[in-house]
Amino acid sequence: MINGHTQLFGIIGDPVAHSLSPAMHNAALAHLGLNAVYVPMRPADLADAFRGLRSLGFAGASVTVPFKVAIMDFLDAIDPVARKIGAVNTLVFERTGAAIRCTGHNTDWLGSNRALAEVIDLAGRTVLLIGAGGAARAVGFGLIEAGAHVLLANRTEAKGRELAHLMGCRFIPAAELSLIRADALINTTSVGMAPHADEVPVAPELLPHFPVVMDIVYAPLATRLLREAAARGCHTVNGLTMLQYQGAAQFTLWTGRESPDAVMRQTLLAALRERHP
Ligand code: ATR
Repeated sequence: MINGHTQLFGIIGDPVAHSLSPAMHNAALAHLGLNAVYVPMRPADLADAFRGLRSLGFAGASVTVPFKVAIMDFLDAIDPVARKIGAVNTLVFERTGAAIRCTGHNTDWLGSNRALAEVIDLAGRTVLLIGAGGAARAVGFGLIEAGAHVLLANRTEAKGRELAHLMGCRFIPAAELSLIRADALINTTSVGMAPHADEVPVAPELLPHFPVVMDIVYAPLATRLLREAAARGCHTVNGLTMLQYQGAAQFTLWTGRESPDAVMRQTLLAALRERHP
C-alpha cells in the first residue's frame, strides 16, 4: 500500500526502460514487507534530476549509464573505492533534521567480487580482464581491493595501457594473449551481448588456460563465451550473478537489511526471460 510513509527509491538512466533493477528491488522490498517503492526514471537533465531526488525525499537511487561519472559532481561524499573507480552507481540520502546529505557508492565491484568469490578465493589470485571501459574499471579496482593480481587486455591497445597504468597492473598485448595463464578470465566488454550473441571477446582455444570464466554480459544468460568455456571444463559465472549482487549491496546500503537473495535471483531470471524469451 502506497501512503504518506512510503519510502522512495529508483534508478536514473538513459535508456532505462530495459533495466531489470525495478523488478529486482521491488520484489526484495515487498518480500521484506517494507513500505517502499523503486521506480525507473529517465532524466532530461541530471542536475535537475538530482535536485528533484533530494527535494522529493528519495531515500536512495541507482545511477546507470550515462550518468555514473557526471553524478559525482553533485554529491556530499563519495566512498573511497567509488572514487578510485571514478563512477557512482548508488546514492544514499540521509536526513538529519532539515539537512540532507547524499553519499555516492559503487556496488558494481562488490557485485563482481561476490560473484567470483563464490567460485574462487580472490586474494593472491591472478585474473585476466578483457576490456578497458567503465565496467573494466569497476571490476578491476574491485579485484585489487580483494588482493587479486590483475592483467588487462583490450582491443584498443592505447586505451588498455592507460587503464592498466592507472590500476598499476600489466597490459597484455593481443600477440601475447596465448601465453597467458590465470586463475580467472572476466569479460567486461559488451561482446557477445544480443543481438551479437555469436561473438566472443577471446579465442575459444585459449579458454582452457583459465579455470574460471566470468562474463558481465547477461543477455543472453549463457553467452557464447560461457558456453565455449563450459564445453572446455571451465567453471563459469554469468553476468546476472554480478547484477544481482550489485543490487543486493545497494539493498543493504538503503535498508540496513540483509538482501533476500533467492527472491532477487528468481525475479531477475523471470524478468530476463520476459525480455529475451
Ligand atoms: P562500458 O562503460 O560499458 O565498459 P565502454 O566504456 O564503451 O563501455 O567500454 C567498452 C569496452 O568494450 C572497451 O574496452 C571496448 O574496447 P575498445 O577500447 O577497443 O573500444 C570493448 N569492446 C566493445 N566492443 C568490442 C568489440 N566488438 N571487440 C572488442 N572489444 C570491444
